[in-house]
Amino acid sequence: MKTIVSALFLAASLGAAHADTAAQRGFIVYRQVCGTCHSLKQVRYADLADLGLPVGDIKAYAAQHQVPDGVDEDGDPKTRPATPEDTIDSPYPNDAMARLANHGDIPPDFSRRALTQRGGSAWIAHMLQSYASVPPDLKLPAGSFYNTAMSHKHIGMPSPWHPGQVTYRDGTPASVPRMAQDIAAFLDWIARPHLATRHRVGVAVLVYLAIMTGLMFALKTRVWRRRKF
Ligand code: HEC
Repeated sequence: MKTIVSALFLAASLGAAHADTAAQRGFIVYRQVCGTCHSLKQVRYADLADLGLPVGDIKAYAAQHQVPDGVDEDGDPKTRPATPEDTIDSPYPNDAMARLANHGDIPPDFSRRALTQRGGSAWIAHMLQSYASVPPDLKLPAGSFYNTAMSHKHIGMPSPWHPGQVTYRDGTPASVPRMAQDIAAFLDWIARPHLATRHRVGVAVLVYLAIMTGLMFALKTRVWRRRKF
Protein backbone atom coordinates (compact mmCIF):
# COMPACT_ATOMS: atom_id res chain seq x y z
CA MET A 1 0.00 0.00 0.00
CA LYS A 2 2.75 2.39 1.04
CA THR A 3 4.68 1.79 -2.18
CA ILE A 4 1.57 2.34 -4.28
CA VAL A 5 0.87 5.66 -2.55
CA SER A 6 4.45 6.88 -2.91
CA ALA A 7 4.50 5.78 -6.57
CA LEU A 8 1.30 7.76 -7.14
CA PHE A 9 2.78 10.83 -5.45
CA LEU A 10 5.95 10.54 -7.53
CA ALA A 11 3.94 10.19 -10.75
CA ALA A 12 1.81 13.20 -9.79
CA SER A 13 4.78 15.43 -9.01
CA LEU A 14 6.72 14.34 -12.11
CA GLY A 15 3.67 14.84 -14.33
CA ALA A 16 3.01 18.29 -12.94
CA ALA A 17 6.65 19.41 -13.12
CA HIS A 18 6.99 18.24 -16.72
CA ALA A 19 3.83 19.98 -17.96
CA ASP A 20 4.77 23.24 -16.23
CA THR A 21 8.26 23.22 -17.67
CA ALA A 22 7.06 22.83 -21.27
CA ALA A 23 4.59 25.72 -20.82
CA GLN A 24 7.26 27.84 -19.12
CA ARG A 25 9.69 27.23 -21.96
CA GLY A 26 6.84 27.98 -24.35
CA PHE A 27 6.43 31.39 -22.74
CA ILE A 28 10.09 32.14 -23.51
CA VAL A 29 9.34 31.27 -27.17
CA TYR A 30 6.27 33.52 -27.10
CA ARG A 31 8.21 36.38 -25.54
CA GLN A 32 11.19 36.21 -27.87
CA VAL A 33 9.59 35.01 -31.11
CA CYS A 34 5.80 35.08 -31.58
CA GLY A 35 5.13 38.07 -29.31
CA THR A 36 6.78 40.42 -31.82
CA CYS A 37 3.65 39.92 -33.97
CA HIS A 38 0.90 38.09 -31.98
CA SER A 39 -1.04 39.51 -29.01
CA LEU A 40 -2.63 37.92 -25.91
CA LYS A 41 -5.40 40.49 -25.43
CA GLN A 42 -7.42 38.51 -22.90
CA VAL A 43 -4.40 37.89 -20.68
CA ARG A 44 -2.88 40.26 -18.13
CA TYR A 45 0.86 40.31 -17.51
CA ALA A 46 0.06 39.43 -13.89
CA ASP A 47 -1.62 36.18 -15.03
CA LEU A 48 1.85 34.90 -15.89
CA ALA A 49 2.47 34.52 -12.16
CA ASP A 50 0.39 31.32 -12.35
CA LEU A 51 3.07 29.97 -14.67
CA GLY A 52 5.61 30.43 -11.88
CA LEU A 53 7.09 33.66 -13.27
CA PRO A 54 8.53 35.87 -10.47
CA VAL A 55 6.84 39.26 -9.93
CA GLY A 56 10.07 41.11 -10.79
CA ASP A 57 10.27 39.39 -14.19
CA ILE A 58 6.60 40.14 -14.86
CA LYS A 59 7.10 43.84 -14.06
CA ALA A 60 10.19 44.03 -16.27
CA TYR A 61 8.42 42.24 -19.14
CA ALA A 62 5.37 44.53 -18.87
CA ALA A 63 7.54 47.66 -18.73
CA GLN A 64 9.05 46.81 -22.12
CA HIS A 65 5.65 47.58 -23.69
CA GLN A 66 3.91 50.92 -24.13
CA VAL A 67 0.15 51.36 -23.60
CA PRO A 68 -2.08 54.36 -24.45
CA ASP A 69 -2.35 56.90 -21.60
CA GLY A 70 -4.82 59.63 -22.55
CA VAL A 71 -3.66 62.85 -24.17
CA ASP A 72 -1.17 65.57 -23.27
CA GLU A 73 -1.92 69.38 -23.03
CA ASP A 74 -1.74 69.68 -26.82
CA GLY A 75 -4.27 66.86 -27.26
CA ASP A 76 -1.69 64.44 -28.61
CA PRO A 77 -2.00 60.80 -27.54
CA LYS A 78 0.33 59.80 -24.70
CA THR A 79 1.74 56.39 -23.79
CA ARG A 80 3.23 54.91 -20.63
CA PRO A 81 5.05 51.65 -19.88
CA ALA A 82 2.64 48.76 -19.19
CA THR A 83 2.19 47.45 -15.64
CA PRO A 84 1.29 43.88 -14.55
CA GLU A 85 -2.41 44.89 -14.48
CA ASP A 86 -2.45 45.69 -18.22
CA THR A 87 -3.40 43.20 -20.92
CA ILE A 88 -0.78 41.83 -23.32
CA ASP A 89 -1.85 43.85 -26.34
CA SER A 90 -0.71 43.72 -29.94
CA PRO A 91 2.83 44.97 -30.55
CA TYR A 92 1.33 47.10 -33.35
CA PRO A 93 -0.43 50.36 -32.36
CA ASN A 94 -3.43 49.48 -34.61
CA ASP A 95 -4.71 47.02 -37.24
CA ALA A 96 -3.58 49.20 -40.13
CA MET A 97 0.03 49.07 -38.89
CA ALA A 98 -0.27 45.30 -38.33
CA ARG A 99 -1.44 44.83 -41.93
CA LEU A 100 1.25 47.14 -43.27
CA ALA A 101 3.96 45.10 -41.56
CA ASN A 102 2.53 41.74 -42.68
CA HIS A 103 1.60 42.09 -46.37
CA GLY A 104 -2.03 42.82 -45.60
CA ASP A 105 -2.60 40.04 -43.00
CA ILE A 106 -3.22 40.53 -39.30
CA PRO A 107 -1.44 38.12 -36.93
CA PRO A 108 -4.34 36.54 -34.97
CA ASP A 109 -4.61 36.93 -31.18
CA PHE A 110 -3.36 33.94 -29.17
CA SER A 111 -5.59 34.17 -26.04
CA ARG A 112 -7.90 31.30 -27.08
CA ARG A 113 -6.13 30.15 -30.25
CA ALA A 114 -5.44 26.59 -28.96
CA LEU A 115 -9.21 26.17 -28.53
CA THR A 116 -10.40 27.90 -31.71
CA GLN A 117 -7.79 26.53 -34.11
CA ARG A 118 -8.97 23.44 -35.96
CA GLY A 119 -6.68 20.62 -34.79
CA GLY A 120 -5.79 22.60 -31.66
CA SER A 121 -2.28 23.16 -30.38
CA ALA A 122 -1.05 19.89 -31.96
CA TRP A 123 -1.84 21.32 -35.39
CA ILE A 124 -0.09 24.59 -34.50
CA ALA A 125 3.06 22.64 -33.50
CA HIS A 126 2.81 20.72 -36.78
CA MET A 127 2.28 23.86 -38.89
CA LEU A 128 5.30 25.53 -37.29
CA GLN A 129 7.46 22.64 -38.52
CA SER A 130 5.95 22.50 -42.02
CA TYR A 131 7.84 25.32 -43.76
CA ALA A 132 9.79 24.07 -46.78
CA SER A 133 11.42 25.50 -49.86
CA VAL A 134 8.98 26.27 -52.66
CA PRO A 135 8.78 23.57 -55.36
CA PRO A 136 10.25 25.06 -58.59
CA ASP A 137 6.99 24.77 -60.58
CA LEU A 138 4.87 26.59 -57.95
CA LYS A 139 4.05 30.32 -58.05
CA LEU A 140 3.06 31.66 -54.61
CA PRO A 141 0.92 34.79 -54.13
CA ALA A 142 3.01 37.82 -53.14
CA GLY A 143 3.77 38.03 -49.42
CA SER A 144 3.01 34.37 -48.75
CA PHE A 145 5.25 31.51 -47.72
CA TYR A 146 5.26 27.82 -48.64
CA ASN A 147 3.91 25.67 -45.79
CA THR A 148 2.75 22.08 -46.35
CA ALA A 149 0.36 22.09 -43.35
CA MET A 150 -1.89 24.71 -44.97
CA SER A 151 -4.69 23.58 -47.27
CA HIS A 152 -3.50 25.92 -50.06
CA LYS A 153 0.14 25.19 -49.13
CA HIS A 154 0.90 28.80 -48.27
CA ILE A 155 0.54 31.17 -45.31
CA GLY A 156 0.98 34.90 -44.80
CA MET A 157 3.40 34.29 -41.91
CA PRO A 158 7.09 33.84 -42.64
CA SER A 159 8.87 30.98 -40.87
CA PRO A 160 9.50 32.38 -37.38
CA TRP A 161 12.59 30.24 -36.82
CA HIS A 162 16.23 31.36 -36.96
CA PRO A 163 19.15 29.30 -35.67
CA GLY A 164 20.07 30.05 -32.05
CA GLN A 165 17.26 32.58 -31.54
CA VAL A 166 16.15 31.24 -28.14
CA THR A 167 18.18 30.16 -25.12
CA TYR A 168 16.25 28.19 -22.53
CA ARG A 169 16.98 28.91 -18.87
CA ASP A 170 16.93 25.19 -18.02
CA GLY A 171 19.54 24.39 -20.68
CA THR A 172 17.15 22.39 -22.90
CA PRO A 173 18.50 22.64 -26.48
CA ALA A 174 16.10 24.94 -28.36
CA SER A 175 15.63 22.88 -31.52
CA VAL A 176 12.74 23.82 -33.81
CA PRO A 177 10.67 20.69 -32.89
CA ARG A 178 11.26 21.45 -29.16
CA MET A 179 10.28 25.13 -29.52
CA ALA A 180 7.21 24.16 -31.57
CA GLN A 181 6.06 21.67 -28.89
CA ASP A 182 6.79 24.15 -26.10
CA ILE A 183 4.89 27.06 -27.66
CA ALA A 184 2.00 24.63 -28.24
CA ALA A 185 2.08 23.73 -24.52
CA PHE A 186 2.10 27.43 -23.61
CA LEU A 187 -0.84 28.17 -25.95
CA ASP A 188 -2.75 25.29 -24.35
CA TRP A 189 -2.01 26.64 -20.89
CA ILE A 190 -2.98 30.18 -21.79
CA ALA A 191 -6.26 29.04 -23.40
CA ARG A 192 -7.09 26.76 -20.46
CA PRO A 193 -5.19 28.22 -17.53
CA HIS A 194 -6.80 25.96 -14.95
CA LEU A 195 -6.23 22.67 -16.75
CA ALA A 196 -2.92 21.89 -15.02
CA THR A 197 -4.51 22.65 -11.62
CA ARG A 198 -7.43 20.37 -12.48
CA HIS A 199 -5.02 17.55 -13.38
CA ARG A 200 -3.15 18.02 -10.11
CA VAL A 201 -6.37 18.09 -8.08
CA GLY A 202 -7.56 14.98 -9.96
CA VAL A 203 -4.42 13.06 -9.05
CA ALA A 204 -4.63 14.25 -5.42
CA VAL A 205 -8.24 13.03 -5.24
CA LEU A 206 -7.19 9.61 -6.57
CA VAL A 207 -4.40 9.38 -4.00
CA TYR A 208 -6.84 10.38 -1.23
CA LEU A 209 -9.35 7.75 -2.35
CA ALA A 210 -6.63 5.09 -2.51
CA ILE A 211 -5.55 5.89 1.07
CA MET A 212 -9.16 5.90 2.32
CA THR A 213 -9.84 2.54 0.62
CA GLY A 214 -6.79 1.07 2.35
CA LEU A 215 -7.84 2.44 5.74
CA MET A 216 -11.43 1.23 5.39
CA PHE A 217 -10.20 -2.18 4.37
CA ALA A 218 -7.91 -2.38 7.40
CA LEU A 219 -10.73 -1.21 9.66
CA LYS A 220 -13.18 -3.71 8.23
CA THR A 221 -10.72 -6.60 8.74
CA ARG A 222 -10.14 -5.46 12.32
CA VAL A 223 -13.82 -5.11 13.18
CA TRP A 224 -14.89 -8.41 11.65
CA ARG A 225 -11.93 -10.38 13.03
CA ARG A 226 -13.40 -10.08 16.53
CA ARG A 227 -16.82 -11.40 15.49
CA LYS A 228 -17.37 -15.05 16.19
CA PHE A 229 -20.23 -16.70 14.31
C1 HEC B 1 6.62 38.41 -38.38
C2 HEC B 1 5.40 38.30 -37.65
C3 HEC B 1 5.01 36.94 -37.10
C4 HEC B 1 5.70 36.15 -36.20
C5 HEC B 1 7.05 36.41 -35.56
C6 HEC B 1 4.85 35.00 -35.92
N1 HEC B 1 3.69 35.09 -36.65
FE1 HEC B 1 2.14 33.76 -36.67
N2 HEC B 1 1.17 34.86 -38.06
C7 HEC B 1 1.60 36.05 -38.61
C8 HEC B 1 0.67 36.50 -39.62
C9 HEC B 1 0.79 37.77 -40.45
C10 HEC B 1 -0.37 35.54 -39.65
C11 HEC B 1 -1.62 35.55 -40.55
C12 HEC B 1 -1.29 34.67 -41.73
C13 HEC B 1 -2.40 34.51 -42.73
O1 HEC B 1 -3.49 35.02 -42.51
O2 HEC B 1 -2.13 33.84 -43.76
C14 HEC B 1 -0.03 34.52 -38.66
C15 HEC B 1 -0.79 33.40 -38.41
C16 HEC B 1 -0.54 32.48 -37.43
C17 HEC B 1 -1.42 31.37 -37.08
C18 HEC B 1 -2.75 31.03 -37.73
C19 HEC B 1 -2.53 30.10 -38.89
C20 HEC B 1 -3.81 29.84 -39.66
O3 HEC B 1 -4.05 30.56 -40.66
O4 HEC B 1 -4.55 28.94 -39.31
C21 HEC B 1 -0.82 30.70 -36.05
C22 HEC B 1 -1.35 29.48 -35.32
C23 HEC B 1 0.44 31.38 -35.77
N3 HEC B 1 0.58 32.46 -36.62
C24 HEC B 1 1.33 30.98 -34.80
C25 HEC B 1 2.56 31.60 -34.56
C26 HEC B 1 3.51 31.15 -33.56
C27 HEC B 1 3.27 30.00 -32.58
C28 HEC B 1 4.58 31.98 -33.63
C29 HEC B 1 5.85 31.92 -32.81
C30 HEC B 1 6.59 30.70 -32.85
C31 HEC B 1 4.31 32.96 -34.66
N4 HEC B 1 3.07 32.70 -35.20
C32 HEC B 1 5.17 34.00 -35.04
C33 HEC B 1 2.77 36.72 -38.26
C34 HEC B 1 3.75 36.26 -37.39
